[in-house]
Amino acid sequence: MYESSSNEGGDEASLIRAGVVGATGNTGVELVNILTTHPQVEVVFGTSRGRRGQRLAAVDPGSTDLVLQHPDDVRNTKVDVVFLCLPHGASAPAAEEWSNRGPRVIDLSGDLRLTDPEQHSSVYETPRAQSLMRKVVYGLPEVNRDALAQALVVSNPGCYATASTLALLPLAEKGLLTKPVVIDAKSGVSGAGRAATETTHYCSANQDIQPYKVGRVHRHVPEIEQTLTAAHGGNPVTVVFIPQLVPLERGILITTVVHTPGESGKGIHALYTARYADHPFVRVLPLGDLARIRGAAYTNRAVISVTPIPDQEMVLLTCAIDNLLKGAAGQAVENMNLMFGLPETAGLRGAP
Ligand SMILES: NC(=O)c1ccc[n+]([C@@H]2O[C@H](COP(=O)([O-])OP(=O)(O)OC[C@H]3O[C@@H](n4cnc5c(N)ncnc54)[C@H](OP(=O)(O)O)[C@@H]3O)[C@@H](O)[C@H]2O)c1
Repeated sequence: MYESSSNEGGDEASLIRAGVVGATGNTGVELVNILTTHPQVEVVFGTSRGRRGQRLAAVDPGSTDLVLQHPDDVRNTKVDVVFLCLPHGASAPAAEEWSNRGPRVIDLSGDLRLTDPEQHSSVYETPRAQSLMRKVVYGLPEVNRDALAQALVVSNPGCYATASTLALLPLAEKGLLTKPVVIDAKSGVSGAGRAATETTHYCSANQDIQPYKVGRVHRHVPEIEQTLTAAHGGNPVTVVFIPQLVPLERGILITTVVHTPGESGKGIHALYTARYADHPFVRVLPLGDLARIRGAAYTNRAVISVTPIPDQEMVLLTCAIDNLLKGAAGQAVENMNLMFGLPETAGLRGAP
């Protein structure tokens, strides 16, 4: 039994001391597991209110023997970075508290993502950490890599938002998203958190595809629009979203078809290849290949395919990610790497 875990190969004195709040959730378990094998990190604590004193492996048998602590017990523990893997609403106050104490903060919830306070209140129905917002950088490295290097607080993007934004970003930057964009989005069940509900219970989720929150009501719609509108030179991008729960443990596949008048399919493919050339976790497939969850699951990779629709001046775009990795814990570690001046790929699977 041990209280913290450090990795082989790292010099103890120079290791980044990391804490994970909400370590027993789907994203928290994933984070502890990545950080435990990260060559530059020592995991100092993982918290749970309900499992204090238990080993993380008792919660998830594939995990480490880190002994869980109550959040109250780690308040004065010295760390360099804290990851918050909490439900929205609980995360904002924790982010404020931790940030005031000194460490960098990476928040995986939706509490710090939306920049418009009124929109935040209507979407999340929780108070907003207003004092923190000046410090927050949105943690999508493909958009904010330079800003992330200086960030004190990072708001890690939503899983659907990561896949949708990466699929559409090059078109937004070219000013091509002038019409509403319809996004078909399929997610595995781990996207809904560890506790089973009526819809995520095995007997409901198995052998079915359940659309939910269709149209413009899903919380990731304003987040996707916020990033794409900024990339679109401030001209509003409108998203119609069709999320669906599919009977997979993990993975997201989004599909969208966009009119690209005056552009050749090959030209759009070349645009995507060039845009992501120096981003190690985005793989643009060769023309003709289609993105599949199997190409992204268990990695921090986003796999994008660009498929021209002959004679229609349209392209079909698909993006596959692992919702717990590039959609959550993996991207959080990617952000930590950038914040601490490490190679973006350190400790992560999925780079070429
Ligand atoms: N799952 C995904 O694919 C995904 C992807 C991207 C982002 N996210 C976001 O990441 C966050 C965590 O998601 P998750 O799927 O890991 O959730 P989860 O499985 O429900 O886990 C939540 C964790 O937070 C702890 N917790 C709950 N309420 C708390 C409170 N008030 N104070 C302190 N600890 C509390 C829980 O343990 P105790 O109750 O024992 O304390 C548990 O460890 C959410 O905001 C979610 O929206 C999730």
